[in-house]
Amino acid sequence: MKAIEIRNKYLNFFKNHGHSVIPSAPVIPENDPSVLFTTAGMQPLVPYLLGQKHPAGTRLTDFQKCVRTNDIDEVGDNRHLTYFEMLGNWSLGDYFKEESIAMSYEFLTKELEIPQEKLSVTCFAGDEDCSRDEVAYAAWRKAGIPDERIYFFGKDDNWWIAGEEGPCGPDTEMFYDTGKEKCSEECNPSCGCGKYVEIWNNVFMEFYKDKNGYSKLSQQNVDTGLGLERMAMLLQGKETPFEIELFAPVMEKLVELQSKDLIQSRRIVAEHLRSSMMIINDGGRPSNVDRGYILRRLLRRMTRHLNKLEINLDELATIIDISIDSLKELYPELDANRNTIKEVIIEEKNKFMKTLQNGEREFEKVANRTKNAGKTVLDTQAVFNLYETYGFPPEMTEELAQEQGLKVDMSDYQRLFEEHQAKSRLGSEQKFKGGLASSGEMETKYHTATHLLNAALKVVLGDHVHQKGSNITAERMRFDFSHGAKMTDEEKQKAEDLVNEYIAKDIPVEKMEMKKEEAISLGAEAMFLDKYGDIVTVYKIGDFSIELCGGPHVERTGELGHFKIKKEEASSSGVRRIKAILE
Ligand code: SER
Repeated sequence: MKAIEIRNKYLNFFKNHGHSVIPSAPVIPENDPSVLFTTAGMQPLVPYLLGQKHPAGTRLTDFQKCVRTNDIDEVGDNRHLTYFEMLGNWSLGDYFKEESIAMSYEFLTKELEIPQEKLSVTCFAGDEDCSRDEVAYAAWRKAGIPDERIYFFGKDDNWWIAGEEGPCGPDTEMFYDTGKEKCSEECNPSCGCGKYVEIWNNVFMEFYKDKNGYSKLSQQNVDTGLGLERMAMLLQGKETPFEIELFAPVMEKLVELQSKDLIQSRRIVAEHLRSSMMIINDGGRPSNVDRGYILRRLLRRMTRHLNKLEINLDELATIIDISIDSLKELYPELDANRNTIKEVIIEEKNKFMKTLQNGEREFEKVANRTKNAGKTVLDTQAVFNLYETYGFPPEMTEELAQEQGLKVDMSDYQRLFEEHQAKSRLGSEQKFKGGLASSGEMETKYHTATHLLNAALKVVLGDHVHQKGSNITAERMRFDFSHGAKMTDEEKQKAEDLVNEYIAKDIPVEKMEMKKEEAISLGAEAMFLDKYGDIVTVYKIGDFSIELCGGPHVERTGELGHFKIKKEEASSSGVRRIKAILE
């Protein structure tokens, strides 16, 4: 069964069970400026899991485009992907464990026709925070799964939370038995030997975790996630996702073009290309910071591996075309944006090509020096130089080092990097891992401040100003916007004064739900208008600001205190960045 058929069957099945089909959010979060990418289906739905009313109802189903880059270095093996699609069905205080399990079982066995004997399931074993999941167990028994294929595990396996804080709960996971030999007597679904492959995860979200521990949410939710590529791989009887129709044509083309036969490099090229295309399609551009840096890292690693395969880099345009052609049924937007996607990727490849060879030569020198000195860890200064002079992301140098049995001290590099106060900055560990925004008091204030700043910049600089990204912590905000020139001191002062003027007016921040067309006709700002559903949430601040946004926001602007612009600088071509604080 092809991926598109699985997706269609899934959405239709849940539609027939009373769910509204909602669109995927972009891989670049629209309402959550403090994370780099959408890492799970639940991420765009957090406000609704916490109790906010969703305009499409209490039963939803969707496919969500996800990017998870914490496993980036694993790509090349037979299963890791940095981009994947998650199919999900959602109960927002509607059905709970029994109905969710009954529907999952029906979908797997009737719609996908997976023989029941191939399924094993796991449930939460219970601990001091939450009791053993007897309800899930009984539901599986009722569906027909025998006792010996129902397992119980603790929080490490059967509890789901995104990051450190947020909605969470016990889950039940479904596994597909590939029919391989058990690796030992004890072999079970939590063992990573490959006999059992996890196919679906139903999270029973009724808790909220913060630093004080667990509390109950106001409603019992269900969040499920089924990985599309993995399911296609299993149903097609393939060993890796790279053999399914979404990757196979590119993989074959790479074989045709290569002079060196390196399977891992082919997988890295095919995978990083797809991920990069999805990020670019949703507005990401290569740069030296945050998500732009991750995109750059993906594209540069892809370029290096094309080089390793000894493929002429001029073939990249053809490779991109083949990849888009295999994906366009799932993502017609890739086809529509084909030219832009190609331009961005090829431009980045061209930039990197100029330094790649010299950088590799420099690396060889450093590696030899290290070995000759009888050492195994690369001089960190060298890692830093490779980055500064040749544009080698340190992770790439680390990978090169590994290929020669050498190591890189990343913490040492990090220290040096900070000491040099390099203009480009690595995302923190937290950002690489994704995870959810904390919606603490300060962060909420900064969210509202971004709206005021956006509106102020339009007044000061003109209507061409649009938000291009933002990043918020409890300490500060960053705001990226379209504008072609450096702001003058006078312009900065004007924008700052205007924000402070609207803070002083203590205007209520109004939240409204309306039809998308209505929001557009009111002139609402939105980063990715075409990605929203028909009904949208809009935040309005007097007649000064109106934006599509999921919040959270303060009740009145007066809560913000004093706004101060600390810095204004270039972010990427045609995009400026402001760093600001609230005092
Ligand atoms: N949130 C869960 C996951 O990402 C289920 O969707 O696995």
